[in-house]
Amino acid sequence: MHGYIDATEAPEKNTGAIKLYNEEAFEGMRCACRLTATCLDNLAALVKPGVTTQEIDDYVYQFGQENNAVPATLNYRGYTKSSCTSINHVICHGIPNEKPLKEGDILNIDVTYVLNGWHGDSSRMYPVGNIKRAAERLIEVTYRSLILGVEAVKPGHTTGHIGQAIQTYAESQRCSVVRDFCGHGVGRLFHDAPNILHYGRGGEGVEMRPGMIFTIEPMINLGRPSAKILADGWTAVTRDRSLSAQFEHTVGVTEDGCEIFTLSPAGYTVPPYE
Ligand code: MF3
Ligand code: CO
Ligand code: CO
Repeated sequence: MHGYIDATEAPEKNTGAIKLYNEEAFEGMRCACRLTATCLDNLAALVKPGVTTQEIDDYVYQFGQENNAVPATLNYRGYTKSSCTSINHVICHGIPNEKPLKEGDILNIDVTYVLNGWHGDSSRMYPVGNIKRAAERLIEVTYRSLILGVEAVKPGHTTGHIGQAIQTYAESQRCSVVRDFCGHGVGRLFHDAPNILHYGRGGEGVEMRPGMIFTIEPMINLGRPSAKILADGWTAVTRDRSLSAQFEHTVGVTEDGCEIFTLSPAGYTVPPYE
């Protein structure tokens, strides 16, 4: 049912076929993803109590401008910001606004730059001042979930192995995995086939092959997994208002595993970022 197609011969749209990219494409993705990761590094110094998410969004736009890159979210399906900023019980797609961050908040910033036509998609968690131990633990569990997902990437495994690694670990830590959003193929398109579920079993999904490029972006909750979308049409929150966290990497499948394109040039992994 799922075909694989040489990306250089594929139409530039999501036909459901899985594109396999060559070394030149990998090099394009390295550049776009490095820029996104550098922006996320730089944002660490900006996030503190009193700063607004609009100020963060302005930085993302500016930094893109200075580096010949455009945020992929800008005017994407009616979305009008350069980033997504998701605070506390917001799971994802929080819209930057003029409300100041408060001490104790946990914030996800999700940035996708388009550089020379290639999309670099990544997100990280940022604590605002001192945060509660439960919030810190959720951030650590979510980061570890992402890394375990990344480590499950290799030819011969299926995308279900990624989901299984994430779900098994997150649930062992008494956390839950959001089902309503998933990772995705990425390249010249922002959201492409295949979907990367953050739950499931090895053998499910599609077989991974060298040359595939996709994101892994688990959203992990302290409470129940259920989500709902607010009246703005974007902001996804936990129904039980429990805290939610997310980290996202863009990766490319290699002969023996994968290359993480969005690694932090500053060497940041989990906060504190210093
Ligand atoms: N960057 C998000 C992702 O990881 C998508 C944001 S789409 C938006 O796929 F329109 F909400 F910005
Ligand atoms: Co993504
Ligand atoms: Co993203």
